[in-house]
Amino acid sequence: MKILITGGAGFIGSHLCEKYTKENSTVLCLDNFMNGNITNIRHLTRYRNFKLINGDIRDFDLLEKIMPSVDIVFHLAAQIHVDRSVVEPKLTYEINALGTQNVLEAARMYDVEKIIHASTSEVYGSSEYYPMDEKHPLNAPHPYGASKIAADRMCYAYIHTYGMDISIARFFNIFGPRQKDIGYGGVISIFTRRVLSGVPPIIYGDGLQTRDYTYIDDAVKAYDLILKYDKKITEPINFGSGKELSILELANMIIDLCDKKNMKPVHVEPRPGEVKRLIANAAKAKKILGWKAKYDLEEGMRKFIHWYKNYGTEKNIKMSER
Ligand SMILES: NC(=O)c1ccc[n+]([C@@H]2O[C@H](COP(=O)([O-])OP(=O)(O)OC[C@H]3O[C@@H](n4cnc5c(N)ncnc54)[C@H](O)[C@@H]3O)[C@@H](O)[C@H]2O)c1
Repeated sequence: MKILITGGAGFIGSHLCEKYTKENSTVLCLDNFMNGNITNIRHLTRYRNFKLINGDIRDFDLLEKIMPSVDIVFHLAAQIHVDRSVVEPKLTYEINALGTQNVLEAARMYDVEKIIHASTSEVYGSSEYYPMDEKHPLNAPHPYGASKIAADRMCYAYIHTYGMDISIARFFNIFGPRQKDIGYGGVISIFTRRVLSGVPPIIYGDGLQTRDYTYIDDAVKAYDLILKYDKKITEPINFGSGKELSILELANMIIDLCDKKNMKPVHVEPRPGEVKRLIANAAKAKKILGWKAKYDLEEGMRKFIHWYKNYGTEKNIKMSER
């Protein structure tokens, strides 16, 4: 099996590269290193069945060269940061929407067997009802979400127009080792880095905005179940724990788990367009694939903090103080 993983040097993509390289599939990792990191995949470069391609999904000629030998595509490459999408909406759209279109079209031209597209709960915007199932309106209020809606809907069009096997996996927040703790990193990584280095987490607004967190191993499991599922999944499918946690509760949990009991989060102005509540209804994933998040948040967080203490780099910690 030859698997192309776009965004393979990023947080989630690198875990997929690792799993399938170690299971002896031929893995092509395509990344332009806009947000990816060579340290996520360097250990895989000694495997003969792993190939790193430093390239861009906006480069259709490159995709045309790669795709003829590919059986499966895990499409994760994206500009993932909401804040950056507000500053650079065009770049975000070019990568997330038009880049996805490139991947789909190249896959169509060369009869790729199956594509798993990394969609996101951010397409929904703030909940109109809870928990959110796949029929929830797509109300993303920011350019990141809008560009991911375009990608999600283009996948849908390719499924229903060309009969392609494309799974639209709408993941709620994922966390775990290798998630960036600098710049626009994931909130759990950033809070952990700050708390461990003795500075309080920063919360935008009152901190009552909620999210639904899934540990990386559960997300990888979801990918694997989709890969092995022998029928087409023609409608989007949610993956989330079904439990909501406020940012304030999250900050306090990290403070506790890092043994910094006297620390208090700092509140600053709310961010424009920030989604207020996200909670998954993942009943469809359970029904179709038998998937259910196995890790509870505290267990996943303990594993993450343990990893971070051992492998979170000095450099990252120093950069965070700038
Ligand atoms: N992390 C989450 O909580 C989460 C939740 C839902 C969905 N997703 C989706 O999962 C995917 C992966 O997210 P992640 O958290 O691993 O992010 P990430 O930024 O770590 O990974 C994305 C990778 O794509 C690469 N990339 C960006 N633009 C590219 C381009 N034009 N060509 C080639 N590579 C490019 C980046 O360098 C990076 O390595 C994204 O599509 C994201 O929308 C993530």
